[in-house]
Amino acid sequence: NWTTGNVIDEQVALIREQVGDKRAICGLSGGVDSAVAAALVQKAIGAQLTCVYVDHGLMRKGETEQVEKDFVAATGVQLKVVDAEERFLTALAGVSDPEQKRKIIGREFIRVFEQAQAEIIADAGPEVAFLVQGTLYPDVVESGGGTGTANIKSHHNVGGLPEDLEFQLIEPLRKLFKDEVRMVGQELGLPDEIVQRQPFPGPGLGIRIVGEVTKDRLDLLREADAIAREELTAAGLDRDIWQCPVVLLADVRSVGVQGDGRTYGHPIVLRPVSSEDAMTADWSRLPYDVLAKISTRITNEVADVNRVVLDITSKPPGTIEWE
Ligand code: XMP
Repeated sequence: NWTTGNVIDEQVALIREQVGDKRAICGLSGGVDSAVAAALVQKAIGAQLTCVYVDHGLMRKGETEQVEKDFVAATGVQLKVVDAEERFLTALAGVSDPEQKRKIIGREFIRVFEQAQAEIIADAGPEVAFLVQGTLYPDVVESGGGTGTANIKSHHNVGGLPEDLEFQLIEPLRKLFKDEVRMVGQELGLPDEIVQRQPFPGPGLGIRIVGEVTKDRLDLLREADAIAREELTAAGLDRDIWQCPVVLLADVRSVGVQGDGRTYGHPIVLRPVSSEDAMTADWSRLPYDVLAKISTRITNEVADVNRVVLDITSKPPGTIEWE
């Protein structure tokens, strides 16, 4: 019979057997799956695991700290944080096209992660043989089964390493659905803010700024997003909505009147959706008083924003994210 306790015991035993006295690396994204996978492997092999978190500067307010402090406190995991904000911002400078942005963020991410990996291997030696991944059952089905190995190219500028390092994969969540992963995470003592987190795209806020991504715009969007999240949580709506992207229309300005005079600021879009699997979605009919509170706070508290608009498009035709 299925209990989270059984799943954890079984996986811990399997992972110990698989890894032996070798070492493993796990990339943390801030999301539920990688966090639970890492916590499970940590429980099995402790200090033989090193986690890597790439801070691309595109996270929401408080998310990086959540990984750095709360996740580490809950699990005791060894964590290598790479602050790559400047690198990502430089690579994104002048780019407005959504697909371009996604490609750049993906490419930089892999480069930074591989570099961190190479550094860990340079320190720990060749016994680093495993890579942990938070693959879930639906991902396994979608990609047609099969476990495997990952071929990861090492970086040319780290001396003495083979061109191709072959890792074996540890995928402790391969038999689980999302709600089961959350239960396992809870049982492992992970904080609710991580275990119950709603989906958030890998490219982060980079694809929630329509227009060029800059540090100022990211800071502005982070503030607006934090307000929306705070009010949705305060209203007890987190479980009712699938997610609520908050989008900055950085290339649009409209006239407003604030305080003593005329303003010419940017609109913020709220995109609350309900969904089962993100393949289709409907816009959430949020209570007007909650929307009003979010709108008032964002226009009062976030400089350069003088308008808040609500996206009332289902998916299809609109995607959940704007880019
Ligand atoms: P769309 O915008 O395609 O989004 O309706 C569907 C779901 O996927 C998330 N999303 C992503 N997740 N990397 C991710 O890990 C991505 O590049 C990405 N793009 C979209 C989105 O937040 C929604 O939950």
